[in-house]
Amino acid sequence: MKALILSGGKGTRLRPLTHTMAKQLVPVAGKPILGYVLEHIAAAGIKSIGVIISPETGEEVKGYIGTGRKWGVKITYIPQTAPLGLAHAVKTAGDYLGRESFVMYLGDNLLSYGVADAVKRFRKEQTDALIFLKEVDNPKQFGVAELSADGGIKRLIEKPSKPPSNLALVGVYIFTEKIHEAIARTRPSDRGELEITDAIQELIRMGRPVKSEILDGWWLDTGKKDDLLQANSIVLDEYIKRSIKGKVDKKSQIAGRVDIAEGTVIKNSRIRGPVRIGKKSIIENSFIGPFSSIGDRVRIYNSVIEHSVILNDSVLEGIERLEDSLIGRGTRVLHSNHRHKALRLMVGDDSTIEI
Ligand code: G1P
Repeated sequence: MKALILSGGKGTRLRPLTHTMAKQLVPVAGKPILGYVLEHIAAAGIKSIGVIISPETGEEVKGYIGTGRKWGVKITYIPQTAPLGLAHAVKTAGDYLGRESFVMYLGDNLLSYGVADAVKRFRKEQTDALIFLKEVDNPKQFGVAELSADGGIKRLIEKPSKPPSNLALVGVYIFTEKIHEAIARTRPSDRGELEITDAIQELIRMGRPVKSEILDGWWLDTGKKDDLLQANSIVLDEYIKRSIKGKVDKKSQIAGRVDIAEGTVIKNSRIRGPVRIGKKSIIENSFIGPFSSIGDRVRIYNSVIEHSVILNDSVLEGIERLEDSLIGRGTRVLHSNHRHKALRLMVGDDSTIEI
């Protein structure tokens, strides 16, 4: 069995971050989302992974994954020249996949406990597709499944305007080679993409077995700011252990599960976990509250921060209280002491600021 990770796309919903970085590389609790995806696939015993990359972010993705040795897997990069849909990506990977079964994993999806058990079930049950479903509040934004009374799949629809249920298709699928035949019979959707949802529906129409499983663990599609903050909170809550490699002075207090990487200095500050702070950062006269992830080489002075993600090389100074925020790389957020009170902003394209 092989795996196919989809790591292309434009990441429009996470702009402005994704103007300069691949959405799959945005860190959650200090680790790029792709890192979790690779760990999950490797843990299922799969050794050969194809990674779909786009012309815009392919080099950056390659830079992170490299040969795959870190995860004990062999990587083959497969360029997809335009974002023409998930099924189009599978078509593009046709030569690489050959006649083998494969796990397809969207590179911006995070699952609580990976795919190892699902792979076992797939092998045992001899189905042509195993898909995963999860109840969501906003089914219009996903592929949606309609189940029959016996739990079988009646119908799958991509982003329906009138969803027949609130069961969304999770971005992880397991297929046999039959999916290629179904894709060949699928036509582009109204958004001009070759949809994997339509291809699975086609498999059902062809009379092939398609099975589903409702996830009981969490699933996060990290495509938007609030999803990303939620993903960060859940991952911090589940995985962060207390580990203090940086320097903490006597006037500082570190409470709970706080992970501080090497080279970071904490002065006269309070940090209340779960919190993760990267390398070579400085936190001075500040409070960092629960569910915050601070990147590498970040400097925070005289500020209070909670439930936020601050990426590498940013500076925050004199910020009375920052909550529920996502701050991109190399950003400066400063309090000015001008007598004339005014907001002075230099903000990138597609940013959101709440005042
Ligand atoms: C894609 C799929 C959709 C699925 C979702 C999961 O949507 O088309 O069926 O529910 O991933 O993340 P997209 O991210 O392309 O909007």
